[in-house]
Amino acid sequence: MPTLGVNIDHVATVRQARRTVEPDPIAAAVLAELAGADGITAHLREDRRHIQDRDVRLLRQTVRTHLNLEMAATPEMVAIALEVRPDYVTLVPERREEVTTEGGLDVVAAGDRLAQAVTRLQQAEIPVSLFVDAEAAQLQAAAATGARFVELHTGTYANALTDSARERELAVLKEGTALALGLGLRVNAGHGLTYWNVQPVAQIPGMEELNIGHSIIARAVLVGLERAVREMKALVA
Ligand code: PXP
Repeated sequence: MPTLGVNIDHVATVRQARRTVEPDPIAAAVLAELAGADGITAHLREDRRHIQDRDVRLLRQTVRTHLNLEMAATPEMVAIALEVRPDYVTLVPERREEVTTEGGLDVVAAGDRLAQAVTRLQQAEIPVSLFVDAEAAQLQAAAATGARFVELHTGTYANALTDSARERELAVLKEGTALALGLGLRVNAGHGLTYWNVQPVAQIPGMEELNIGHSIIARAVLVGLERAVREMKALVA
């Protein structure tokens, strides 16, 4: 059964809507851990639209489970990661105009720059996960960078409109997981997972961690964060 990484970006989104100090994502991380989160995930974006540098540094000091720092493979972010030392880094594609991450990295096209970021981080003993679509070519290219993990992009599965499309996308995720494991990669997944669609993904053999943000924080606004995390943890497990 996979572990649950709770992404707290959207707590920071609410704070940044007023450029104030509340709600504090650090407090949210503490509550999420008390409610059973196995890890805390935060995405420090280049435009700092939600998580701030201060958050990442404080999370490093306060998170008692593990801290997964999502970031683009830029020199600025690699330098921050080397200083802050999260438990692992997930490299994601980033475009300023996007509302959220829109798809996996194109590892095939990325070439040396991405592989160099992986090497620099892993030489500093920070394991790297590459956020990719569950496609054979991407998984093979991910393995070739030496990255320890992939995080399979579940957004297409989550957005499927019909049962048959959802089944097709689930099969893609299952095949991708098996292929990645065969390539020696460890496998996480995330993006767009909700209380309604998470269970089939959690049941994929070999799936290690699910990173879930928006759906948990959206429920937390209504029922409280601890209950929202507990309910998601029960579904994942
Ligand atoms: N995994 C990755 C790589 C992401 O970029 C995101 C969104 O920040 C998530 C997981 C969480 O996605 P969601 O907020 O849709 O649960």
